[in-house]
Order: sequence, then structure tokens, then C-alpha cells
Amino acid sequence: MAVFKNVLIFVIFLAVALNKKVASQSDSTDFTPVYSTNAPDATTPPPPPPATSGRPQTTAPTRRTTAPPPSPTSGSPLGLDRECACTVEKIWLDIVAVIDISKSITQEGLAQVQANLDTIVHRINVGSQAGYNSRISLVSFASNATTVASFSAFNSSDDFDNTIFNINVNTADDKVNILSGLQTANSILGSSSVNPNRRRVVILYTSAYDNGGFKSPIPLAQQMREDNVKLITVAFAQSMGSSDVDAVSELAYPGFAFTNNQTDLIDQMYTALCQANCFCPPNWRQFTANYTNKYAYGYGNCLYYSSISAGWTAASFACRKEAPGAYLASESTQKKTDFNLAYSKDISVNNQYSYHIGLEYKNNQYSWQTSNSSVLSALGNSFKNWNPGYPNSNVGECVKVDKVFGQSYGWTNEKCWSALNYICEVTTCDTDNYCA
Ligand SMILES: *[C@@H]1O[C@H](CO)[C@@H](O)[C@H](O)[C@H]1NC(C)=O
Ligand SMILES: *[C@@H]1O[C@H](CO)[C@@H](O)[C@H](O)[C@H]1NC(C)=O
Ligand SMILES: *[C@@H]1O[C@H](CO)[C@@H](O)[C@H](O)[C@H]1NC(C)=O
Ligand SMILES: *[C@@H]1O[C@H](CO)[C@@H](O)[C@H](O)[C@H]1NC(C)=O
Ligand SMILES: *[C@@H]1O[C@H](CO)[C@@H](O)[C@H](O)[C@H]1NC(C)=O
Repeated sequence: MAVFKNVLIFVIFLAVALNKKVASQSDSTDFTPVYSTNAPDATTPPPPPPATSGRPQTTAPTRRTTAPPPSPTSGSPLGLDRECACTVEKIWLDIVAVIDISKSITQEGLAQVQANLDTIVHRINVGSQAGYNSRISLVSFASNATTVASFSAFNSSDDFDNTIFNINVNTADDKVNILSGLQTANSILGSSSVNPNRRRVVILYTSAYDNGGFKSPIPLAQQMREDNVKLITVAFAQSMGSSDVDAVSELAYPGFAFTNNQTDLIDQMYTALCQANCFCPPNWRQFTANYTNKYAYGYGNCLYYSSISAGWTAASFACRKEAPGAYLASESTQKKTDFNLAYSKDISVNNQYSYHIGLEYKNNQYSWQTSNSSVLSALGNSFKNWNPGYPNSNVGECVKVDKVFGQSYGWTNEKCWSALNYICEVTTCDTDNYCA
């Protein structure tokens, strides 16, 4: 049995090491391409040597689930915008792992869960003080759920090793009560906070979906989704029928449903954790792959639309006061331009879909504001969206989005004191930007 366990763990390492998939954001559609597109990653190191002990090798410090390399043809596909940061070592979340220990997961299956979770936890900084660290709690379940470890149990990932590998299969219990596991996780998450900004994640590992005649976990999973708890599911595909795998994935936060047999499982889980860790200050709107889908893949910028009009220069000062490092919004891709306009149409109270953007004519060139108030980014040959007849700095040296000649919305010069609505922009709270 011990030999078999080693083999299994080795298989997991190989799967992880051989994985060369990285997320890709080059598509303008929904979040789905991010989880399905393959792109070779030249920086992935060769596979590590096989583990020689039963204890999994837990770190691979050079591997990061960061943004994909810029596309060679069009510069960065996000222009001046950014992917959510994904420095795994700096993830700051509250994470409850809910583990099926019923007879049906089997000893081999549980060993995979233990290796998977231990690998993930070892790259995260475990701790309960505010800052770049995450709290981890463990729940096991079969017919009933048990809290194996509360958030206060672990002050480091080494504390975690002992606890996770001490969990055993309950061979006397072949029922799988997912609802009970999620209820326990939800009450752990609900009853504590180090930082009210810290996002909450549940990782559910299960070998069955509808087993034992328990109540459906779907309503609770939906409620958790509404409460902004991100549920990641890992289904044990080999022991399930495909309809059960599909049913488990329905519980997951959109895009966060995985199976244990996928070779890129760990990278996909880190990507999901980083997405969960990427969010905006209250009242700000995250730039995403699809404005009308609130579960769409998120990028690393936040927007704030002001319906109280102001001159361009005053608006740019106002942005810097709204949030540290904020500036008038950029539109350096078609995707961002469309998003800003959709946001304006959604929120504008006076049906006036025109607004200042962070483009100005200065020192004989057009340039965008950036998060550093003393740095401008020259427009140069990058994406442009001028209305017919523009640019024309004689009209004014500042730029707004407006509709002229009954055409579509585009960039138009304006006087810098003309009052208008405006959109501010700031970096997301994420693994490179801690928000207290
Ligand atoms: C599960 O917990 C309930 C309530 O605590 C108890 O009545 C029941 O017997 C438990 N079931 C098992 C299989 O332990
Ligand atoms: C973690 O730290 C807290 C506070 O310092 C302490 O009470 C607790 O016993 C520690 N837990 C472990 C597992 O070391
Ligand atoms: C994983 O298992 C599921 C269900 O058995 C199967 O449909 C899927 O093709 C498998 N995926 C891989 C990568 O083996
Ligand atoms: C955006 O999301 C909406 C709502 O989920 C969906 O109906 C629409 O097709 C999506 N648009 C694109 C371009 O994917
Ligand atoms: C902003 O840019 C200036 C000029 O490049 C640089 O000296 C300064 O350190 C930057 N400030 C920040 C906060 O990055």
C-alpha cells in the first residue's frame, strides 16, 4: 500500500511538472477561454526529479501562474491594462478545504487530495495576521462533517503537513453529504474576519455527488456565490459518472470546476485562487472580459464612473483623491473602450454617454495618464479611437468620449475646463497590491 501511495504521489508530481499550460487572455469573449486555451510557456522549468520519500515535494519556486507573455503581433493584448497579479506566495485569502473522507474516495484518492492540498498550501504564506498571508481551515465529511482544523490551528505551512496527512478514510461510512460539508465551511467563514477585505474561498474535494439521499447542496452553493464566497470544486472523475461530474461543477463558482485527472489541476487552482484574490474597492467596478456577466474573468483594473460633472483637469485631481494611485481611465484596447461605454450606459443618470478619459495633448503629443502621476504613456502608434475630424488640438487639449455626426462613440478633443462626467481607474486589490 505504501508503495502504491508513493506511485500515486509521483504521478501527481509528474502531472504538475509536465503541465505547460498558462492562462491566456487574448480572447475578447467570456472567461472560458482562460481555462481552455493552451499556450506554450517557454519559462516552465523541466520536470523536477521524482520524489523519493512518501512526503510530497512541495515547492517549485520558479513556477508562477502569471499573465501570459504578450502576443508578438499586437503588443500587450490588454494595452495599458493589466492582468490580475498572481504571485502565489503573496495570496491573501481565507480558505476552507472540505474533504470527502467517505469509503468511496478510497485511500488512494485521499492521498491525492492530501498531496494536492499540501502542494498548494506550501507555496502560500500561511498565517493569521493582516498582510500577504492566508488562513487555512480543514473540514472532512462523509455522512456528517467535522471541523478538523479551524483557522487558528495553523501558523505556518509546516503546521499544516502534520494535520493534513493525519486524515484517514472512514471505511465504515460510504455516504457523501456535501451539504453538511459546505454548511460547516460556511459557518467557519461567516464567524471570523482578520480583514473585512479578505476574500473567502472554499475548496471542495468529492468522490460522489448524489450519494446517500441527502438534501441538495445547490441552494447553499448559490447562496455562497451571492455572498461572494468562491467555491472551487475538484471532482474525482474516475469514480463518478459524467452526469455526477457535471453536477459537482454546477456547485462551483463559474470557471472554478475542476477534475482530479486534469494535468493542469494545480495551475488552474492557483489561477482560480488569484482570481478570487483580485477585486476592487467598494463602489468600484472591475474591468472584466464581459460587462454583462458578473462572473466573467476579471482583469487587474477597477473603474469608477462619476456622474457629477467636472472639468477634465479637476476630474483628474478628483480621481487621485478617490483612491490612492487613481487616475482618469485609459482606453488602449477596443475591449476596454467597449467596457467603459457599457459602464457609462449602465450607470449614467442623465443618459449622457460622454465622459472624460485620461488622454491629453501635452508636449506635442497625445498621452495617457498612468498610476504614477508624474509619468504619462505616449499614445504613439497604439490603439486609437478618434472620431472623424479628430484629433484636433485647436478644439482643446483634453479628450473625451463622445458621439459626433450621429456616428458611434469615439475620442473628441475638448477644452480642459469643459464640465462632463468622467471615469477614474485604479489597480485591483490583488497579490501585488494589498488592501487593508
Ligand atoms: C450525523 O450527525 C447527526 C447530528 O449530530 C447525528 O444525529 C447522526 O447520527 C450523525 N450521523 C452519523 C452517521 O454519524
Ligand atoms: C499559533 O499562534 C497562536 C498565537 O500566537 C497560538 O495560540 C497557537 O497555539 C499557535 N498554533 C500552533 C499550531 O502553533
Ligand atoms: C477525466 O475523467 C472524466 C470522467 O471520467 C473524463 O470525461 C475526462 O475525459 C477525463 N479527463 C482526462 C484529462 O483524462
Ligand atoms: C456576456 O455575458 C452575457 C450574460 O452572461 C452573455 O449573454 C453574452 O453572450 C456574453 N457576451 C460575450 C461576448 O461572451
Ligand atoms: C513615478 O515616476 C517617477 C519618474 O519616473 C519616479 O521617480 C517615481 O519613483 C515614481 N513613483 C512611484 C510611486 O513609482
